[in-house]
Amino acid sequence: MCGIVGYIGKQKASPILLEGLKRLEYRGYDSAGMAIADGENNFLVKAVGRVANLENKIGEKKILGTVGIAHTRWATHGKPSDQNSHPHQDCTGKISLVHNGIIENYRELKKELQAKGHKFKSETDSEVAAHLIEEFNKKMNFETAVLETLKKIKGTYGLAIINREEPDKIIVARNGSPLVIGVGAGEYVIASDVSAIIRHTPQVIYLDDGEVAVIKKDGHQIKTINNEAKNKKITKLDWDLERAEKQGYPHFMLKEIFDQPASVEDAIRGRMLLAEGLAKLGGLQTVSEKLRKIEKIIIVSCGTSYHAGLVGEYMIEEYAGIPVEVEYASEFRYRKPIINSRTAVIAISQSGETADTLAAIREAKEKGALTLGIVNVVGSTIARETDAGVYNHAGPEIGVASTKAFTSQLSILVLLTLTLGRQRDMSLVTGQRIIKELRRIPKLIQSILDEKDQIKKIAKKYHGYEDFLYLGRKYNFPIAFEGALKIKEISYVHAEGYATGEMKHGPIALIDKNFPSVFLAPKDSVYEKTISGMQEIKARGGKIIAIATKGDKEIAKIADDVIYIPKTLEMLTPLLAVVPLQLLAYYVGTAKGFDVDKPRNLAKSVTVE
Ligand code: F6R
Repeated sequence: MCGIVGYIGKQKASPILLEGLKRLEYRGYDSAGMAIADGENNFLVKAVGRVANLENKIGEKKILGTVGIAHTRWATHGKPSDQNSHPHQDCTGKISLVHNGIIENYRELKKELQAKGHKFKSETDSEVAAHLIEEFNKKMNFETAVLETLKKIKGTYGLAIINREEPDKIIVARNGSPLVIGVGAGEYVIASDVSAIIRHTPQVIYLDDGEVAVIKKDGHQIKTINNEAKNKKITKLDWDLERAEKQGYPHFMLKEIFDQPASVEDAIRGRMLLAEGLAKLGGLQTVSEKLRKIEKIIIVSCGTSYHAGLVGEYMIEEYAGIPVEVEYASEFRYRKPIINSRTAVIAISQSGETADTLAAIREAKEKGALTLGIVNVVGSTIARETDAGVYNHAGPEIGVASTKAFTSQLSILVLLTLTLGRQRDMSLVTGQRIIKELRRIPKLIQSILDEKDQIKKIAKKYHGYEDFLYLGRKYNFPIAFEGALKIKEISYVHAEGYATGEMKHGPIALIDKNFPSVFLAPKDSVYEKTISGMQEIKARGGKIIAIATKGDKEIAKIADDVIYIPKTLEMLTPLLAVVPLQLLAYYVGTAKGFDVDKPRNLAKSVTVE
């Protein structure tokens, strides 16, 4: 949520900052801006809307500076406008800063500063930081003024600050919002995440909460806000830039849907031992004995990752016999969860930076739980703060609507179920059956993707409808949620996900010929009951799209349209059933002419609570 990028080195900063902003644009696209400081050619530009608007505004202007900061905004305080865009400046225009997060006490601070004569230009919380630095800087040097400012600010921040009069440095600070420092040869690129850094250098330092870095082109110093020096290790990224490109697809979302045979393969490769019927999850090795004694699991997550958690609940309870609760991370802290040292709290998060999920994990740790992460972004805060965990290895997910991260989360939940199940009562034969079937999943996903044209046709037929009901039972109940979420976030239509059995307790009242239902109806242990639900909709004149198992001819007699998926183990059907729903949402969204990679009002990584 909000993307920050900064550069200091020998090259012209502005093209590097623009390129970085484009890579970070998925974090917010309400407005963008850039400030360059080199003493003589100071430059500040802002534009409402996409980074492309900023690029157009910069046009052919010669911007020579080699030090700069830039920002792409997801609005929290103040509507998208030039004034509210970052970078923000002090009264003199000497200090410029970009901020991601929320300064909670900005109202008091603003009042105090206004009483001292400071003139504010924006409605944002962020601007107070620039004026506070200016105020402190009257009595002390720039670096100390930044530290004193950070002590006064309550809330979350990823901050990058430059000073026209000291153009040899960028100061960055982190508290609750991610900040990564890319260390190059005689240059640094700082950013909210590595996607803006990887093109320049694979060497990064992850700043932790409460840390500040003073970065010059030939060296950096890291300290706490109390000015105590810190020694931080440099990590080498193993990201491949290729994987963060569209590779010929019109949208990242479509590319990422089509990545899934490979991303599921990457999630499971080398992590299964067929002969022993076991999963081999290196990241859980250190807590293996603790896992053996776990008596309860709580999964905390948000959005799509929450839906993965719900599928995990069915898997773990059925195959490992451990009670599982799945909780919206944003609610977890407001309950009184019953936790002890035999409770494992698992955070599922693509970005590893979701503020609610992070807060839930911190709360769980505080209460003495074993904390685990299922995270895609290597080195992200949740990955670093959990006791142990498993990386998805899905590669960068740029499309705002999560697709490949979801199927890789499900794959890891299968492996986790194997680990926990085999530590308990799961037989060798069951373990081996799951492994054999899981290995087939990438090929089976590919066979669904090969039918994309049929799904596109169905999307065209239904793209004018304004309401949809998504229904599923047992393992596919969470897939109904996920299908509904996908279509609402990128097609802006109203869609509700429901448990098929709940439909007759209320939502059926909505059904008429203008309110189609999407049924998850694979041949599984609840198939007959699902068919009854379909008949009830049919009897009320509702249209039906069914996701069914290949070879099921009967279903075509009830449903108006059928999308077939291959047969697999019941616990693995969500990995297949979700794929046509992702494609359906994609094709409905594109048929309506929307930018599906950047749906309105959304941002990829939700780093505010
Ligand atoms: C939906 C979507 C969001 C995220 C949610 C959690 O397509 O992308 O609902 O799933 O914001 O994000 P992570 O997984 O990064 O914690």
